[in-house]
Amino acid sequence: MKIFIDSADVDEIQQAYKWGVIDGVTTNPSLIKKAVDRRVGDGKKLDMKGYVAQILEMSKGNPVSLEVTERSAEGMIAQGKKLFEMFNPIAQNVNIKIPVNPALADDEASHFDGIKAIRSLAEDNIPVNCTLVFTPEQALLAAKAGAAFVSPFAGRVDDLLRKNAGMSFEKSDYYPAEGHDTEGGLLHDDGVLSGIDLVRQCVDILDYYGFETEVLAASLRNPRQVREAALVGADIATLPFTVIQGMLKHVKTFEGMNSFMNDIVPEYAEL
Ligand code: G3P
Repeated sequence: MKIFIDSADVDEIQQAYKWGVIDGVTTNPSLIKKAVDRRVGDGKKLDMKGYVAQILEMSKGNPVSLEVTERSAEGMIAQGKKLFEMFNPIAQNVNIKIPVNPALADDEASHFDGIKAIRSLAEDNIPVNCTLVFTPEQALLAAKAGAAFVSPFAGRVDDLLRKNAGMSFEKSDYYPAEGHDTEGGLLHDDGVLSGIDLVRQCVDILDYYGFETEVLAASLRNPRQVREAALVGADIATLPFTVIQGMLKHVKTFEGMNSFMNDIVPEYAEL
């Protein structure tokens, strides 16, 4: 499974590359805002073009997702092309993130604008990462439209299930991949039992029909979810910096290291 870092913070991205385990980067408007807020003080403005270029350069050879901010098909296509033309020459590693459905509510007539934009950009050989996927059927339509990646948002599915059930939780709390059993039966969102179950269903459908589209498990909030995304066959997991850090921690590893260090004899250390 490939591991991407879900961050727009150049320091985090650079550090993760130095660890040698990162295969790409995903950004979104919220992550860009977080990075900008961290850097910009006293009304100073960030050179956004230079900043994005830095991320692309340090990711040479690895894909980087840049998300559109427009919502109409025409707007997303134009902005997607512009971002690609502006940034892809830097390191030939840009893909454009398009929401599977850019409608803000159920009463709009724009539900297929994301799919139209994916189709159009894919026909122009611009790789698309289809984002905000919450159902396997959204993933199927995005794959049919030619998306290079589909991004099911695992953690946000778990948020929804817990919220609907009136449970209190922290964003990073583990939610069982097999679902949460209650007196009224397993919690589910239209047959999706958990975020990881959504990832699994996307993987199964796209594999079954031989789509080249890769499943990029997103909105992963803890190391156990990463393990489960790997177990259900996600092609990629995109992870916040802190989750990557958390993947190496275990109390018995620390304990073992302490005891090994205490047992070092000088004769061996001097070898
Ligand atoms: O890649 C999508 C991701 O950034 C969303 O994560 O934790 O805000 O649901 P989260």
